[in-house]
Amino acid sequence: MSESLPESSQSFWREDIDLSSFSSLQEDMEVDVVIVGGGITGITAAYLLTKDGVKVALLEASRLLNGTTGHTTAKITAQHGLIYDEYIQHFGQTNARLYYEAVTEAGNFIKKTIDSLGISCDYQVEDAYLYATTDEYARKLQKEYEAYQKLNIPGELVDDIPFSIPVTKALVMRQEAQFHPLKYLRVLVEETKNNGGLIYEETVAVNIEKEDRMIVHTRDGYRVKGKQVLICSHFPFYEGMGLYSARMYADRSYALVAETKETYPGGMYLSADQPNRSLRSIIVDGKEMVLVGGESHKTGQGTDVMNHYRAIEKFVHDLFTVENIPYRWSAQDLTTLDKLPYIGPITENNPNILVATGFRKWGMTNGTAAAQLMSRIVLGASSPYESLYQPSRFYADPSLKNFLRENIDFMKHFMKGKLQFPKTKVKDIQPGEGAIITVDGQRKGAYRDETGELFVVDTTCTHVGCEVEWNSGDRTWDCPCHGSRFTYKGEVVEGPAEKPLQQHHFQMLDNYTSEESGY
Ligand code: FES
Repeated sequence: MSESLPESSQSFWREDIDLSSFSSLQEDMEVDVVIVGGGITGITAAYLLTKDGVKVALLEASRLLNGTTGHTTAKITAQHGLIYDEYIQHFGQTNARLYYEAVTEAGNFIKKTIDSLGISCDYQVEDAYLYATTDEYARKLQKEYEAYQKLNIPGELVDDIPFSIPVTKALVMRQEAQFHPLKYLRVLVEETKNNGGLIYEETVAVNIEKEDRMIVHTRDGYRVKGKQVLICSHFPFYEGMGLYSARMYADRSYALVAETKETYPGGMYLSADQPNRSLRSIIVDGKEMVLVGGESHKTGQGTDVMNHYRAIEKFVHDLFTVENIPYRWSAQDLTTLDKLPYIGPITENNPNILVATGFRKWGMTNGTAAAQLMSRIVLGASSPYESLYQPSRFYADPSLKNFLRENIDFMKHFMKGKLQFPKTKVKDIQPGEGAIITVDGQRKGAYRDETGELFVVDTTCTHVGCEVEWNSGDRTWDCPCHGSRFTYKGEVVEGPAEKPLQQHHFQMLDNYTSEESGY
């Protein structure tokens, strides 16, 4: 590892503030609406519904805001990369414009909520830049700019940005914003509580039973009844024949915070070309620093994770005189086959189970838009965005090619791990390292902690059976198929898997062979 990178992965947002903690559910109960998932979508929906007098129970599998929302770059913008030209091709001009309106409305809602509740959350208005460093991507930006014009989206095409990055073109959306997402959401959690909302942490929802009402079953054996269930658990914990596993893929990306000698020039930046790079300023202990991100790749399919951190570290060193890097962390995002989130009834036949997923790294605006839309559906109000986001559009979607590609990819990873045969000795696994080993002809995952103790797990993912790979940056076992992640002891860090990896307690393992995972 580079000398200047922090030893462990820790999100600044999560460490910066204290959140109230909530006990786990210990009884059966009945409410109007059950919300599963305590990120920006679930919390905003709980806030909106309780404000309207709806009785809500929010169930979070771990701690509130510990998932993707706690690991975001927290840009509030409608500039979601190179997307509007593609949306016009795929969904038509009216729907592409509707998407812009939905996420702009979500950004306005965040600002209005901050003002009305007097939330102090480092909200700053900034211009958003999408920049190209090659001629090929300059041409793509030109097309994206033309899409802006067709859709009446305010934007400018410029030749330069206020950084020493040699850009060929940049597309600017003026007056967008950034904030501290957890300072904002902490207040929404308190408001929800004050409005009578019930919140439970460490409460894992495992299934939904449909009777006259919906019944959410928890892993601890409790039942929560409600007229509707909102699934805001990032990857849906319940798929209800909606085939979500086959319709989305998970990406990991990396971020670090750098204290720099130079003053940050202002603005939020995203590269259009690959490898992607993202920049914004961030306030850490009252001091302005730089939040840099990028290097996204499909979960479980990158190179050694530390190489990704080193790449963004080099990027920030090329731009600034870096004095310190106090934080690094990684995030996981889900993308649908047609790149538009799924928000609405989980299937056509299940109008009382609503799902929100596939935000493609733009969770601040898409998560808020999802909460707004789901609340309107629950309250029986109409929304202009309902048909745009409806998850059942899949059946009419022309992207069969993507569907096949993702599922061939799934099969490839399903089989790949099962055919690997490790070659080196377990005793070669150093403290702090993980590797795949073979025990009695079976593939296992081994991690040696700093004291030398070996932890061995079964590497078959408990979701639908792909083989997990070692993630050296976060010291987790990651699944390449749908992005489940597990600690080195096998506990679930992130779903869709609900059950831990099986743990093994073998004797005399140092004589077995091992193979450094290809990850
Ligand atoms: Fe689906 Fe692992 S996350 S098989």
